[in-house]
Amino acid sequence: MSKEKIEKLRNELEQHNYNYYVLSAPTISDMEFDAKLKELQSLEEAHPEFYDPASPTQRVGSDISDGFTQVAHVYPMLSLSNTYSEGEVTEFYERVRKALNEDFELVCELKYDGTSISLTYENGLLQRAITRGDGEKGDDVTANVKTIRSIPLRLRGQYPALFEIRGEILMPWAVFDELNREREAQEEQLFANPRNAASGTLKLQNPSIVASRKLDAYLYYILGEKLPSNTHSGNLNAAREWGFKVSGATKVCKTLNEVFDFINYWDVERKNLPVATDGIVIKVNSLNQQKNLGYTAKSPRWAIAYKFQAEKALTRLNTVSYQVGRTGAVTPVANLDPVQLSGTTVKRASLHNADIIESLDLHIGDMVFVEKGGEIIPKITAVDLSARVLIGDKVKFIRNCPECGAALVRIEGEAAHYCPNDNACPPQIKGKMEHFVSRKAMNIDGLGSETIALLFENKLLQNIADIYDLKVNDLARLERLGNKSAQNIKSSVEKSKEVPFERVIFALGIRFVGETVAKKLAFAFKNIEALEKATFDELVAVDEIGERIANSVQAYFADERHVEMLSRLKAYGLQMSVSEDKMKPAGNSLSGMSVVISGTFLYHSRDEYKTMIEQNGGKNVGSVSAKTSFILAGANMGPEKLKKAESLGVRLLNEEELLAMLKPEEIKESEVENRTEGETLSEGEEKKLKESEQNSTGFTGTLF
Ligand code: IVH
Repeated sequence: MSKEKIEKLRNELEQHNYNYYVLSAPTISDMEFDAKLKELQSLEEAHPEFYDPASPTQRVGSDISDGFTQVAHVYPMLSLSNTYSEGEVTEFYERVRKALNEDFELVCELKYDGTSISLTYENGLLQRAITRGDGEKGDDVTANVKTIRSIPLRLRGQYPALFEIRGEILMPWAVFDELNREREAQEEQLFANPRNAASGTLKLQNPSIVASRKLDAYLYYILGEKLPSNTHSGNLNAAREWGFKVSGATKVCKTLNEVFDFINYWDVERKNLPVATDGIVIKVNSLNQQKNLGYTAKSPRWAIAYKFQAEKALTRLNTVSYQVGRTGAVTPVANLDPVQLSGTTVKRASLHNADIIESLDLHIGDMVFVEKGGEIIPKITAVDLSARVLIGDKVKFIRNCPECGAALVRIEGEAAHYCPNDNACPPQIKGKMEHFVSRKAMNIDGLGSETIALLFENKLLQNIADIYDLKVNDLARLERLGNKSAQNIKSSVEKSKEVPFERVIFALGIRFVGETVAKKLAFAFKNIEALEKATFDELVAVDEIGERIANSVQAYFADERHVEMLSRLKAYGLQMSVSEDKMKPAGNSLSGMSVVISGTFLYHSRDEYKTMIEQNGGKNVGSVSAKTSFILAGANMGPEKLKKAESLGVRLLNEEELLAMLKPEEIKESEVENRTEGETLSEGEEKKLKESEQNSTGFTGTLF
């Protein structure tokens, strides 16, 4: 009975995945989909014996990190010879014509600008996904690739028993923009382009983060002994039938003119595509003819890539200015003579850091090349030395903060310079306050960036804690703020005292402590005193906390002024410990129990479950024994543990059953929070970004 139900849900969900991700034509709402997925997940957890590596639940990604294993490619992954010139496309055509000395067709495709992948399917099931690596061997990234919804885990229709299919993994522009905005808000290094973001994501050790990054994949090349067709286009069509996403922008051409029409059409039209492309790939259609043409050492003779020109412009560098962010990171910005590039006017380009300025050997007044390429952030790629008649001042990275004058510091191993004066440097103070009041932090209404600036200038706000000292009268006296707004601000400030501890930690704006890290810290240390006292070793022992974060947390608490401010916040009544009733049930429901955690989970991380078990009187143990009270079993539970549990008669509980044993209502609420967490900007940040995007003269830091 359960087995049929499981199979039915698996088939249904896979069909919906296909409709949504391959056909872009969903037939049910996201909510309905999630409900079905959840139902399947709990059935699978209750019946680990029906485990299926191709189940749609496997796309959620697991928490378990493993290094990647290197695997040899059955067929080496070659590259294509590249050209930027139409003349060389003609030469390619002529070479092929002469070598074949018979009629032939060419297939034109888009050249997707992502990271290449080779997928092996055996009996219709995805077995392995290997990166290109050095062409001979690559990394086994199967677990990560399974999270990509447009890649079928199980094929449909009639397919060869064994074959490889290759393609490109891409991060759609929209996802890339969102990810970079989020990273910008956290002052993390931005990804230069979707290609880097896609390959970086594919190499993450945590598939659940990969799953959240919403990668996509287009497939363009099939290899195997028994393929359905003896033409490339025939095989692509078959692959489409099996459920793969094969680009519709594929054309069989009989003449060189048709090839150029395709190139000219897509050079313009590609700008409307959801993913990055950087050229056209032209392939001989007949597999027999491909075989006859053969390969050079590096690339096939039967294909060529025509690359679109990276968009470039030459303009003058007038000045370099420096922006100070909320954590004190200083970003150098080139101010340029306005120039047209990919349809937008570019007046500024990021210079990233001191090393980049140095390597460009920039001088004020230089004519510089600005490029957009696959990148949304224009960058200066070179100086036109031939245009350097009079040499201006060499651009030297500033030594002092442009806002407060403090001597800048550079942390070893990091590219960025920082202003260390975080308690007195105006943009840092204002930036920290904006972050503190933002929706995902303390969620205080009415304190927009202008109001904060006004309060700062009027000396009513000097640090975060002053927010809780604001008087309605002081507020109401300010320009532009009436009595009603002042009242609203005050009541919103009062309400923020209920904001849970993990969000308070996030709100503090400790460098590198984003929402997720704040949660990890809150659950691991449980209160501010313990966090303050945490040693470096204790910090790095927490899941996902590395040296960089640990150092930053320690540096934060080593500053007396922060400690003093925190004690004020505590005195005002902010939540400085994990809410007891959030995790503690009325009774001590796990008292005396030993619990083993195994597998991967949907609602909470392993660490969170560990904390919950301990907070409810239980003990988390590593291995299954006769003394184990029960196993908290997630998806992909280890087969050894399962066997042992069966032989010892230890019962398995799934996530929902455990949560039900705790305090159902409270937990349910935090589940919802957990699942919607993370991906978007805070309202303040969103607003700021929109404002600066609309204001063409306004510089936003890194987005132009
Ligand atoms: S065919 C033997 N088709 O470009 C050649 N490659 O330099 C197999 N690429 O490594 C590749 N779009 O990552 C092919 N439509 C397309 C492509 C494509 C992008 C990438 C691929 C390859 C590189 C070649």
